[in-house]
Amino acid sequence: MSQDLSHIAPVWGRITNLVVERGEGSYVYSPDGQQYLDFTSGIGVTNTGHSHPTVVKAIQEQAAKIMHAQVNCYFHEPLIRVSQRLNEVTPSHLDTFFLSNSGAEAVEGAVKLARHYTGRPNIIVFQGSFHGRTAQTMAMTTAKTVYRLDYQPLPAGVFVAPFPYGYRYGMNDEQVSRFALQELDQLLHGQTAPQETAAMIIEPVLGEGGYIPAPKQFMQGLRRIGDEHGILLIADEVQSGFGRTGKFFAHQHAGVKPDIMVMAKGMGSGFPISGIASTQEIMSQWQTGTHGGTYGGNAMGCAAVEATIKVIQDEGLVENAAIRGQQLMDGLTELQGRYPVLGDVRGLGLMVGCEFTDPNSQQPAPAVTKAVLSHAFEEGHLLLLSCGTYANTIRWIPPLVVTESQINAGLEKFERALAASVS
Ligand SMILES: Cc1ncc(COP(=O)(O)O)c(C=O)c1O
Repeated sequence: MSQDLSHIAPVWGRITNLVVERGEGSYVYSPDGQQYLDFTSGIGVTNTGHSHPTVVKAIQEQAAKIMHAQVNCYFHEPLIRVSQRLNEVTPSHLDTFFLSNSGAEAVEGAVKLARHYTGRPNIIVFQGSFHGRTAQTMAMTTAKTVYRLDYQPLPAGVFVAPFPYGYRYGMNDEQVSRFALQELDQLLHGQTAPQETAAMIIEPVLGEGGYIPAPKQFMQGLRRIGDEHGILLIADEVQSGFGRTGKFFAHQHAGVKPDIMVMAKGMGSGFPISGIASTQEIMSQWQTGTHGGTYGGNAMGCAAVEATIKVIQDEGLVENAAIRGQQLMDGLTELQGRYPVLGDVRGLGLMVGCEFTDPNSQQPAPAVTKAVLSHAFEEGHLLLLSCGTYANTIRWIPPLVVTESQINAGLEKFERALAASVS
C-alpha cells in the first residue's frame, strides 16, 4: 500500500513517522519486521503490554456474543461483572462506578457530578495540569499553551493553584507543600470562595505537566481543606492508575481518600474505556438522566477491563511496577551523577521523569531533550516521550510487564543517546 499520508489530519502531533503493524508485550514492529522497544505504552495505556493474549481473547469472545448492548436499553453481563471487579481494586469507599469512553469524557463526568452534588459552580485545578481536550477539560488544562491555542475563551469557573513542583521552586517536599497549600488558601480567600467551590481536581502524579509526584503532605493538606469547606477532592488517575505507580492508584501512596476518582488509559489495555468511581452517598444524588452516553459501558470495553484486572492481579504487575520502577530510578540516578544536564530524576513506580536543565543557567533544556529522544529512536529503536511545560522532561512509562533486561536495555540505549547529544 502506498504511504500517502495527505488525507490524515495534520493536527495530530506525533513523535515519529513510524508505521507499526503489530505489538507484543514491550515491543512494536514495523511491517518490515523491525522491532522497537516501546517505552511510551501508547501514552500510558498498554499497562499489560501490547495485545496481551488474555485481553485479546476476552474482547474477541465478547465481540462474538454482543458488541453493543446499550446501557440505557438493557444491562449486560460484562458491565455487572466489571462493576464488581472494579469494586475489588478501588479503595473500599469508592464503590459505585460510571463508565465512559475517554479520559476527558470521564473528567467532564466527574466535574458534572461534583457540581450536581455540591450545588456549587467552581473547580480548582493545579498548574501544569492536563485533563483533556474537550472545552471543559481544555479550560482545566494548564500544561502547555498549545492545548488551548486559538480556542479561548474557554468555559469559566476554573481557578488555578500552584502544583507542589519542588525542583522548580528549589524546595523540599515539606517546604513546597506548605507553600502550595498557602497559595491555595489565598485562592479560596481571593478568587473562589469555598461556598462557590465544588471540587479540587489533582493528578497525584502530574502527567503531561512533567511527571511530578505530589508530596504526601500536600495530598493530605488538600484532604483537610476539602473536609473543612465541603469541597470535593477529585483524583485524576487517568495516567497514574491501574498499577502504574506501584500501587493500584497513585493517591494511595499518600493515604488520602478522594471523593471521586477518574480512570482511563491502563483500564482497558488499549480498548477505549474510562470511568469514574465515587461513594454510594455521592453517586446516589446524581439524578438519573442528567448524565450518560451512547457508548459508555460498552460490552467489549467492560470485557477488556475485566481481563486487564485479571492480568494485573495474576501476573503481579503492581509489584513489578514497584520493582522495575526502582531499577529504572537507580539507573537514571546513576546517570545523573555523570551527566549534569539531568537536573532532576523523580517518579513513583513506572511513572518516572528526568528533567533536562542547563547545568550553568538552570534553565530548561528542551533542545537536548529533543536530541536525546530522536537519537534513542533513530539509533536505539527505543520509543520515549517528553512532557512538561517546556518539553524538557523525558517520561518513562514502560508497560507494567517490562522485564529487568528490557529496563537495562532501555537505560543503555538512553545513555548512548545522552552521550551523543551532550558532546
Ligand atoms: C491525567 C489525564 N487526565 C485526562 C486525560 C485525557 O484523556 P483522553 O486523552 O483519553 O481524553 C489525560 C490524557 O493524557 C491525562 O493524562
